[in-house]
Amino acid sequence: DMKNRIITAIATLFVCSLQMPAQTLEVQHLANNNAIVRFSPNQEARYLLIPIEEKSPESKIKVICGNSLARTLDVHLAFDKVDYFVPFDLQEWQGEDVKLLIHLPVDRTNGREPQSEICWSKMILSDTFDKTNREKFRPSYHHTPEYAWMNDPNGMFYLNGEWHLYYQWGPYGSVWNNMTWGHSVSRDLINWEPRNPAIMPDALGAIFSGSCVVDHNNTAGFGKDAIIALYTSAGEVQSQSLAYSLDGGNSFTKYEGNPILTSDIVDFRDPNFFWNDEIGKWNLILACGQEMRIYSSDNLIDWTEESRFGKSYGCHEGVWECPDLFKLPVEGSDEEKWVLFCNINPGGPAGGSATQYFIGDFDGSKFTVDDVNRYLDGKALWQDYGKDHYAAVSFYDAPDSRHTMIAWMSNWEYANIVPTMQFRSANTIARDPFLYKVGDRIYLGSRPAPEYSGAGLDKTVKINGSCTVTLSNDKGEEFVIIYDQKAMTLSCDRSKSGLTDFSQHFDRVAVAPVYRKITSLRIFIDNSSVEVFANDGEVCLTSLVFPDSPFNSLTISK
Ligand code: FRU
Repeated sequence: DMKNRIITAIATLFVCSLQMPAQTLEVQHLANNNAIVRFSPNQEARYLLIPIEEKSPESKIKVICGNSLARTLDVHLAFDKVDYFVPFDLQEWQGEDVKLLIHLPVDRTNGREPQSEICWSKMILSDTFDKTNREKFRPSYHHTPEYAWMNDPNGMFYLNGEWHLYYQWGPYGSVWNNMTWGHSVSRDLINWEPRNPAIMPDALGAIFSGSCVVDHNNTAGFGKDAIIALYTSAGEVQSQSLAYSLDGGNSFTKYEGNPILTSDIVDFRDPNFFWNDEIGKWNLILACGQEMRIYSSDNLIDWTEESRFGKSYGCHEGVWECPDLFKLPVEGSDEEKWVLFCNINPGGPAGGSATQYFIGDFDGSKFTVDDVNRYLDGKALWQDYGKDHYAAVSFYDAPDSRHTMIAWMSNWEYANIVPTMQFRSANTIARDPFLYKVGDRIYLGSRPAPEYSGAGLDKTVKINGSCTVTLSNDKGEEFVIIYDQKAMTLSCDRSKSGLTDFSQHFDRVAVAPVYRKITSLRIFIDNSSVEVFANDGEVCLTSLVFPDSPFNSLTISK
């Protein structure tokens, strides 16, 4: 009897794997908008493939194991048509009984049947998920997630020849939600290797933006050279949590005493911290509403508030987010200055999201701006005047005292609806920020990282006086760069660059002020972006584009 059962089981498995590479699921409809799906994950059922339709409202999937809530996913379950599938990895529940309790926000007053949503027949279990790229707009050398949604770069650090990049990842669809830290690693800042997700949401909330350090002296007690991450736990309130990694950043353990920093402020997030040799302590800068708070600590767990910065300085048209703070030499002088970075959304120079900066001094406790007039009455300085440069932050411990930065190459005005589906959003190329002086004034520039030199990714054109540089393709689509030497501006016009009408905000011309004569334009073109660096980074403009085919021609006219 037992033997027969085993044979039948093996035969069934065999037949199943021949005829049904994927297993459909039995759905029990409860009330109108609630259903239960039961199954038991195994090797053949490693992934739940969830059918997504982006225009459907968000449904809630509760993953239940032994009557305990294991995970909650917010997903745009397909009601009428499947745009694509996303995988939910079931590995950790192999051999156990799992229930999905699913709630769909569907209006049934018109008689729509509970069984009628297409997701019920399309949701399947499978042993694989196909991650091969199917998008012509996927960049060829910019960092992207393998699939699904991405926003801010997080927790970047450099260690043993590897650049670690974590990012705000929304694993269950290509629109923002379910924030998790995704992880990629590169040795050359061009090729990025995907790694397992690093920090998953938990009972304290989703995992919002934050940063990492290498704790060389074991100040926190988790181990010498432990990687310490601070991130925002976004639940009912926003608070800061700590996680540490003892395997070089591949996997993280959350600290038991989380959260370590709390507040009643609604927007209280994006911790960025660093060892400050000048005071022999750690400093932390945190975005709080429309200002930054600065803290200090000896052990990375207990933080003392030192000061606040930002009231009445710079742009205040939006929420202050994703700060950074570090010291840079002023090129061509012996001076050094601290630069405070403040990403703000909305309020950017071309609308929506952008990165403003402040130059001054920092004594480990208080940041003081130089030349306050540059920041009064809403005036602001911007790191990049294009529309698609946001959440810029630096790598910790970058080699040669560099403070290499990467920004998210999109804008909250349209990030969720740009014309890609299998993945959504890329990061900028890595850039080394620098300070340069024109007269008495210091400005921030961003130079493409030296790793790109000689890699054949960019084109440099020498210019002499006002001119127009046009990038185009065979379809007649074009991206226009205009240097007006008299007006002292550099502009990018993408109104004829391909798809633009998915958002009314997309085709606005981006205009950057120029502080001294431009003699060269260094341009990085990829399948869906153009990054322009005047005088190798004194003035920067980053723009997304969605041309029918990549721009392959460049012309200059007077
Ligand atoms: C910036 C931001 C951060 C936040 C994260 C959430 O783009 O809003 O302030 O931590 O995105 O994904």
